[in-house]
Amino acid sequence: MGFKNLHILLGVTGGIAAYKSVELLRLMKKAGANVHVAMSRAAMEFVGKTTFEVLSENPVLTDLWEDTHSSVTHIDIATSVDAVIVAPATANFIGKFAHGIADDALLTTMLAVTTPIMICPSMNTDMYQNIRVQRNLDILEQDGVHILDPDDGVLACKTVGTGRLPEPWFIFDRLDALLTQKDLAGKKILLTAGPTVEAIDPVRYVSNHSSGKMGYAVARAAERRGASVTLVSGPVSFDPPVGVEFIPVESCDQMADAVFSHLGAADIIIKVAAVADYRPIDPSTLKIKKTQDSNDLSISMTENMDILKRVGDLKTEQQFLVGFAAETNDLERHALAKIKKKNLDMIAANLVGTEDSGFKADTNKVKLFFKDGASKDIPLMDKNRVAHILLDTIIEQTG
Ligand code: CTP
Repeated sequence: MGFKNLHILLGVTGGIAAYKSVELLRLMKKAGANVHVAMSRAAMEFVGKTTFEVLSENPVLTDLWEDTHSSVTHIDIATSVDAVIVAPATANFIGKFAHGIADDALLTTMLAVTTPIMICPSMNTDMYQNIRVQRNLDILEQDGVHILDPDDGVLACKTVGTGRLPEPWFIFDRLDALLTQKDLAGKKILLTAGPTVEAIDPVRYVSNHSSGKMGYAVARAAERRGASVTLVSGPVSFDPPVGVEFIPVESCDQMADAVFSHLGAADIIIKVAAVADYRPIDPSTLKIKKTQDSNDLSISMTENMDILKRVGDLKTEQQFLVGFAAETNDLERHALAKIKKKNLDMIAANLVGTEDSGFKADTNKVKLFFKDGASKDIPLMDKNRVAHILLDTIIEQTG
């Protein structure tokens, strides 16, 4: 859960995609990891050792014999790392590693590693599909090595097919998932996020400022912790987290349909979405034109279903229901009233209207309230960390 203070060995072997591992290194460093890089001789034909040395702030391991730091550096690294990621991993590296061959610094180091290993094959499609390469990947998989499948796309050899190294953010995301404790394994989590959008006519709508950041952070954290996550989301400006079942919706009605068709299977329901409380009664099928005779326009609105309240009415004893409340005042009073009214197990309430807490911000200051009246303050922090604390609390509460 997070890279802070983790020791990671980044193995780079000789493929054209080696330049992407520079960005991967940068992402891991930014997240607080201490990264050691080991490069094969061929990798140095593609990217200079100095680049990795400067960015990792550690000596780069390239040759067991030329290494001047210590005669046992590779063993020191192997025994101190929390994980190894090899990106890109060539067919040559995969073949040798699968058979325990240790003829360079990276392979030798990796034979002494006992922590999780992820490798990212990247090569020409025919090479990747070659029966020998596939056999070697199977061997590694059976040995417990995690293989991150290559992407499809245009390859350096100008062919189109499988073999591209995934983008650095994706490798980083999957390595993070690998290293995260699976304390939500077996749990099904149904989440809503983002705003809803209620049509006035085909080009206009009523909505709110929800960015979806908080809900997506919870979805991402839950997936990394092993939950099977269904995310029902109104329109937001970023991609859904990797590995979640994603159901895009627009209106409250559509969100309700998606929620109720997945409710029965859910163990935990977390409703982060900022659902519009009202919608135009009779949206026009044609664009509403400006009229000459009046300066005023009234739109008649009708109340939307309170999805959370309906879920609260329907939920079983085994289901744990979490609501969110964005308030501008009287946080505690409103939050406790909503717990009661909507039959919630917990509510995450925050004051909106400040720059560092609320819809658009990357940080949030949340207070959790429980149905017995107890509460827990979460100090101002990044929404990803808030998401993990929220999930920790749900695990505590569901015992
Ligand atoms: N919610 C919902 N369906 C609605 C309105 C809200 O499911 N039609 C859910 C939200 O997803 C959130 C919680 O209810 O989890 C609180 O929403 P909020 O708008 O703060 O509360 P309301 O009950 O609508 O009260 P008010 O707007 O008066 O504060």
